[in-house]
Amino acid sequence: MITSFNIFVPVLMGSGASLRTGLKVRELGCRKVLVVYDKGIEAAGIAGTIVENIQNAGLETVCFDGVLPDPPDTMVEQAAEMARREQIDGIVAVGGGSSMDTAKAINVLMNNEPPIMRYFGVQKNLKPGVPMVFIPTTAGTGSEVTHMCVISCTSLGKKDSVVSPVCLGSLAILDPDLTLGLPPKMTAATGVDALAHAVESMTGGQANPLSDALAREAIRLIAKWLPIAYRDGSNLEARENMLLASMFAGMAFTNALVHLGHSIAHTLGASFHLPHGVACGVALPEVIEYAAKTEYKKVRMICECLGAEVEENASPEEIGAVARDALRALIKSVDIPNLQQLGIPLEDVLGVAPMVVADTGFALVPYRITAAKVAEMLRSAYSA
Ligand SMILES: [Fe+2]
Repeated sequence: MITSFNIFVPVLMGSGASLRTGLKVRELGCRKVLVVYDKGIEAAGIAGTIVENIQNAGLETVCFDGVLPDPPDTMVEQAAEMARREQIDGIVAVGGGSSMDTAKAINVLMNNEPPIMRYFGVQKNLKPGVPMVFIPTTAGTGSEVTHMCVISCTSLGKKDSVVSPVCLGSLAILDPDLTLGLPPKMTAATGVDALAHAVESMTGGQANPLSDALAREAIRLIAKWLPIAYRDGSNLEARENMLLASMFAGMAFTNALVHLGHSIAHTLGASFHLPHGVACGVALPEVIEYAAKTEYKKVRMICECLGAEVEENASPEEIGAVARDALRALIKSVDIPNLQQLGIPLEDVLGVAPMVVADTGFALVPYRITAAKVAEMLRSAYSA
């Protein structure tokens, strides 16, 4: 099999690494930097520290502090207009996936005419933007190393993504100090998102030996450190390992893609306003059990990474069942609720199955699967 693999983004990692932000942005040749974040990051004091650090390196800063969850197209278009007006020549995003996705969409619009929805899909000929530095404050999306951003289209009422080299960062700074204050619920949800990226990337049609190596290490790290980071947010070693796992999973899925788990998660998230990681956790065990029918060798590896024992001569169905139970146990260990506990009626849950099949990501699902089978999975996941 001929495969290609790209790891694009330089990384600076370690406790205190974010204190080199100004220095690094200056090295990139920037003079006037747009700093992108949300009100929560501002309230936590993180944004102020980063802005000050950039200014202390002799650079000018302009702040966009209005990042919203599931970044709406109207918001990124306003922010991009400000960025163009201010003639910024660099962007620093501080925060979770929404801040990084907002920064990426702004960068797309720096030299390409709005609206952003014109650029949904894979774009190979966009005019380049400015250097971007990503400083994640959650360990989950892996967005700091991916070349895509997810934006909510307000007029169509759905999310879509721009996939382009313009969305790539010039540098990712992984500083576990910035994730120490992340509340347990968000630690759990974002960590399960990273788990889903790793597990789905291994079982999809685009997996290759390099993405598998990254995904396997990500799964091992998450299985060991997510429950510790969830129970004791101040554990720096756990936080650092979760940032590493999230980045490995991001590198894996930006090359090997995610599949049915994310199609289900996107649909559940949009229909019932669930956090992305919670929706991923609901879907993942059943999806991987199903994937074992054809991808049983990969699913066996996933079991090994999770520390779950599989009999040497186990059938694909048995391997799938072990993986389902091990994933479910890990997800439950960080108190991710099931759909019943979330208070969503079963009929409503089953009703979204046709929407899963219509999700844009469904084209990536490497198995032949019907809406009826998706409904069966959702029924099985409902109270599990
Ligand atoms: Fe995700």
